[in-house]
Amino acid sequence: MKRSEINAAIQYAKAIMIKHRFYLPKFAHYDLAEWKASSVCGRQEILQAHLGWDVTDFNLGNFTKCGLTLFTLRNQSPDNQKMYAEKIMVVQEQQITPMHYHWKKMEDIINRGGGDLMVRLYKRHPQTDLLDEEAELNVAIDGQYINLPAGGTVCLQPGQSICLPPMLYHSFWAEQGVVLAGEVSMANDDLTDNRFLEPLGRFSNIEEDEKPIHLLCSDYQQYL
Ligand SMILES: [Fe+2]
Repeated sequence: MKRSEINAAIQYAKAIMIKHRFYLPKFAHYDLAEWKASSVCGRQEILQAHLGWDVTDFNLGNFTKCGLTLFTLRNQSPDNQKMYAEKIMVVQEQQITPMHYHWKKMEDIINRGGGDLMVRLYKRHPQTDLLDEEAELNVAIDGQYINLPAGGTVCLQPGQSICLPPMLYHSFWAEQGVVLAGEVSMANDDLTDNRFLEPLGRFSNIEEDEKPIHLLCSDYQQYL
């Protein structure tokens, strides 16, 4: 993914958040000089918990079709006692987050405003670890359980949320407009806890065609 695309996605996400009056912490707006001027001790938790911007095309090279813009607001780190994480995400219309499950993490995905958030679900086949094309499933939408066929899709309107237990395959995208989505979950580890159905990368390889406006959480190690 080109750095210019990442910069544009962050600018777009910031505009969507302003529109929905969702405010980010101060470090969301740091440029490289501000990061470098921040105290090493003071920023340690941000770096260790991988807080901050995260823009990915899942290394597939077509961000419009397959991609996600996220900001991790809180998460577990080796030095804090948090068992939880929170993210805010911008899901563009018809922009897919590909089918995956988490071995450990249980997460609620919340439509915080905008269009409809569509979530497709499959059970994991116990023998193949791929999609179980036949098994029905049962999920909670804001505490109310519904039954779905394999591959069934839930439409979350603004204000609605779905609880996704570990090991349940899910994929999502937006319809009827861009969606500002929240994620409230158990501790998050994107380095080890994503099982994608297709082989792809959780983080993109970056082509540095311009300077970063803001660092991604995956940039900290290289730049700071
Ligand atoms: Fe997920």
